[in-house]
Amino acid sequence: MNTWKILITDGLEDNGQSVLRKSAHVDDKNGISPDELVQVICEYNALIVRGRTKVTAAVLGAGKQLKVVGRSGVGVDNIDLEAAKQNKITVVNAPVATTIAVAELTMSLMLSMLREIPRADASMKAGKWIKKELEGIELYQKVLGVIGFGRIGTAVAQRAMAFGMNVIGYDPIIQDAEIFKQGATPVSLADLFIRADIITMHIPLTPVTRNIINAEAISTMKSGVRIVCAARGGVIDEEAILAGLDSGIISSVALDVFATEPPGLTALVSHPRVICTPHIGAQTIEAQQRAAADISSEVLAALKGESLRWKVA
Ligand SMILES: NC(=O)c1ccc[n+]([C@@H]2O[C@H](COP(=O)([O-])OP(=O)(O)OC[C@H]3O[C@@H](n4cnc5c(N)ncnc54)[C@H](O)[C@@H]3O)[C@@H](O)[C@H]2O)c1
Repeated sequence: MNTWKILITDGLEDNGQSVLRKSAHVDDKNGISPDELVQVICEYNALIVRGRTKVTAAVLGAGKQLKVVGRSGVGVDNIDLEAAKQNKITVVNAPVATTIAVAELTMSLMLSMLREIPRADASMKAGKWIKKELEGIELYQKVLGVIGFGRIGTAVAQRAMAFGMNVIGYDPIIQDAEIFKQGATPVSLADLFIRADIITMHIPLTPVTRNIINAEAISTMKSGVRIVCAARGGVIDEEAILAGLDSGIISSVALDVFATEPPGLTALVSHPRVICTPHIGAQTIEAQQRAAADISSEVLAALKGESLRWKVA
């Protein structure tokens, strides 16, 4: 039995923890403060986080025995990847575990937005019967523009096609043939803006994708366009979205992610034609269990020096 020590700071499902405990000593310090983390990290060979813990240069610098940081989920924005490289600490994530959960949330957001389900429910709970006001529209035969045709974008496209939507996709890295293979049509970003009835984003936040939905892009969109975002907050310019809603170019918006989280009761959140969820894309029992299993085996592989499936840095 080796003596690896693994620290978990944002919780991890039992199925993952039991795999880790067979090979290592595991401490589950859910909710540990940033200061305490810097103090104790020197004892550990591996750190497993979700999105809450900030794995800063200070944490990585203090982790003198740290070999690997595992992110149970996809986004690694909370981990200083440059500092990890400098300290020769491997970073791994669990990128495939949450694909279905985010794709299903995206479909839920689209349907909720088009049929105004949050408003319908709120009105019933207020004792009202506003049936005549609640005439929605259908997904059937609408053009869905998918920006980012990776894992989640593809899963959303497949589900949208089952609803009879015509899917067009923009992805500068994925081959057009891959998009055609899925039954969708590859287009330029400019064409996607012009043709889509509904636009959904499944891209990482990078300097190129930041504010990819901005005032100029919105000015080229179809009047009455609907926008869904369950990717990362910064990919849309929230001010431009508000202006687009007020000018009438944008009919409605559904958001799971925000430039600042939590955003509080901003003009965007409280807008009557915006529906919001608090970054719950990956929040299903199945996705979290898959992520826990994937990250546990990946962290153990990194400790053992074995080949890795999901090395980020
Ligand atoms: N809401 C949530 O809780 C939640 C959960 C998981 C993932 N996400 C987010 O979903 C996004 C997609 O995840 P994924 O697993 O599909 O990732 P992925 O890497 O499989 O796909 C991302 C795709 O975006 C493409 N891309 C990169 N730059 C682009 C650009 N400028 N324009 C268009 N496309 C571009 C890439 O080529 C890639 O195909 C990520 O940003 C992730 O952070 C959100």
